[in-house]
Amino acid sequence: TEYETILTEQRGRVGWITLNRPEALNALNSQVMRDVVAAAEAFDADEGVGAIVVTGSERAFAAGADIKEMQGKTGREMIMGDHFGAWARFADVRTPVIAAVSGYALGGGCELAMMCDIILAADTARFGQPEVNLGVIPGMGGTQRLIRAVGYYKAAELILTGRMMDAAEAERAGLVSRVVPASDLLDDAQRTAETIASKSLPSVFAAKAALDAAMESPLAEGLRFERHVFAALFDTADQKEGMAAFREKREPRFTQR
Ligand code: HXC
Repeated sequence: TEYETILTEQRGRVGWITLNRPEALNALNSQVMRDVVAAAEAFDADEGVGAIVVTGSERAFAAGADIKEMQGKTGREMIMGDHFGAWARFADVRTPVIAAVSGYALGGGCELAMMCDIILAADTARFGQPEVNLGVIPGMGGTQRLIRAVGYYKAAELILTGRMMDAAEAERAGLVSRVVPASDLLDDAQRTAETIASKSLPSVFAAKAALDAAMESPLAEGLRFERHVFAALFDTADQKEGMAAFREKREPRFTQR
């Protein structure tokens, strides 16, 4: 498929989505949203893909929602046009998604990274929710997901001041799982994605669903969900294979995709 604002590629069992609006630091306009959602859903439906990586350019993962596109709109138009609604479909993709962030991840760019399951950062990465500087607030999940990622007080300071944090601070805060030299970022993302894609996919999907449940439900409910999904996996061929391989001191050969 041809997309206008992104590049897509499959490397092994990993689907790559590269934001490609360099003239606007990958600002997320409605075409980017349509392209990213369509590409992510296509990879999700593809049995040959076991993990997805979303990345931008060296200079910017994404500098936010497209301010030029939004500027003239009324509140009514923003609500009725449901301008950002389709991003929910990106967050609902079952396949694990890694954000590989180099340069700016601001506003909607930071929010897009937080819709992914893992955030890997180049040492050049800068994260922030600068919407207060524009007279608005985060609108693609920033006030909700940043709190869950870094805690109330850190999130409140970032969202209320609009300041940026560098990769080291983002890692200390728990937003980023690992910081790597910028030149290693894409290789690292590919390796991490390959590792995930080599597992039994029923268990990977189940793990992602249980992690999502942890974000969304009280502890008791999440624990119940986990226990049931854990038990259900004992009816998969890959569970028998994985545990047999351990007993036989060899690598497992997972077959379930
Ligand atoms: C549209 C953008 C843009 C954006 C950058 N550009 N960010 N266009 N929307 N969010 C464009 C610039 O207008 C410029 O094009 C080109 O990209 C390069 O940007 P510069 O500003 O010249 O680069 P630099 O001086 O290096 O500064 C980089 C920057 C700055 C610090 C990242 O661009 C910046 O502050 N951008 C806005 C960041 C932001 O506020 N994001 C939050 C958006 S609101 P031209 O052609 O003009 O030279 C948001 C809400 C999400 O995300 C929720 C929605 C519901």
